[in-house]
Amino acid sequence: MHAAIITAYDAPPAYGEHPEPVADGENEMVVDVLAAGLHHLTRAKANGTHYTATGAFPLVPGVDGVVRDPQGRLRYAILDDTAFGTFAERTVIDVRRSVLLPEDADPVRVAAAMNPGMSSWVALRRRVSFSEGQRVLILGATGSAGRMAIQIAKRFGASQVIAVGRDATRLKTLRDLGADQTVTFDDVAVAADVDVVLDFVWGAPAADAMLSLLKARADRGAPLNWIQIGSIAGATAPIPSAALRAARLQIVGSGIGSVSPSDFITEFPELAAAVTDGTLDVQARPVALADIARAWDEKTGERLVFVP
Ligand SMILES: NC(=O)c1ccc[n+]([C@@H]2O[C@H](COP(=O)([O-])OP(=O)(O)OC[C@H]3O[C@@H](n4cnc5c(N)ncnc54)[C@H](OP(=O)(O)O)[C@@H]3O)[C@@H](O)[C@H]2O)c1
Repeated sequence: MHAAIITAYDAPPAYGEHPEPVADGENEMVVDVLAAGLHHLTRAKANGTHYTATGAFPLVPGVDGVVRDPQGRLRYAILDDTAFGTFAERTVIDVRRSVLLPEDADPVRVAAAMNPGMSSWVALRRRVSFSEGQRVLILGATGSAGRMAIQIAKRFGASQVIAVGRDATRLKTLRDLGADQTVTFDDVAVAADVDVVLDFVWGAPAADAMLSLLKARADRGAPLNWIQIGSIAGATAPIPSAALRAARLQIVGSGIGSVSPSDFITEFPELAAAVTDGTLDVQARPVALADIARAWDEKTGERLVFVP
């Protein structure tokens, strides 16, 4: 069968022949892959920067995808840490890490949306006690995860969603998704009185934004839940200790590990339904898996989805 194959961390995957996968665990099954998204996690595992990287090659990338099971049913599945991913005609899934999808689900939309969508979905559902009427600020709102976070925060009943980004033109388009206010990082203090921050950037931009927000809050005793989700602007952030003393700030992370696999899986069906029924807007672009070497480093605002 064909697959995308990585033989060195500093080279893009090559499309080529690969031995068939074999299911050997009690809950495992070999499935046909229909669509698999190129997420940041996919890249990190493929280029050796993720902490699970073992240095063992060859490696087939791909952390999740929409598949057809041996009974002909459509499923969305996430894989455990494995050298045999979803960027292949067939792969092995653990059925316990998958959910059935309706037959009319669009595999490309679902494969594009589940990883970025799940990031804010579980953060608000599983990492804080979010309640209707709270105000949410999103750092890094112009990306795939940020765009979905706007829609998900609104769906969960946020009274106000403030989208923060660095590109004023892209920011303006976010009002169509439900953002009540759009501001650049420089002006973040105008939106200081929020209850929850969904932070996809971390690094210096997040630290600067945090200080600006805290200084400008009308009531520094009002709780502010800062949920650290992504680190696109830096793995570390220079946060002064005073930030944690001088305001009622609580910083928590959200991702695989701080949210258990079973909690993620419990949330899958509702998110998949919102993606499938078109409630959530998704920017996805299908690409033939055979074109992976060309598309791998493409810079695009859309989520690339490989179709074997
Ligand atoms: N923990 C989880 O469960 C989870 C799940 C999914 C994703 N994530 C993480 O969330 C982050 C965003 O993912 P994504 O899928 O939305 O990525 P994406 O579609 O590539 O979007 C990246 C976003 O980050 C912004 N950005 C990039 N570099 C920046 C910088 N130096 N300063 C400020 N903003 C910057 C981009 O702004 P422009 O529009 O201006 O380029 C864009 O808004 C990634 O780190 C990803 O790994 C975490």
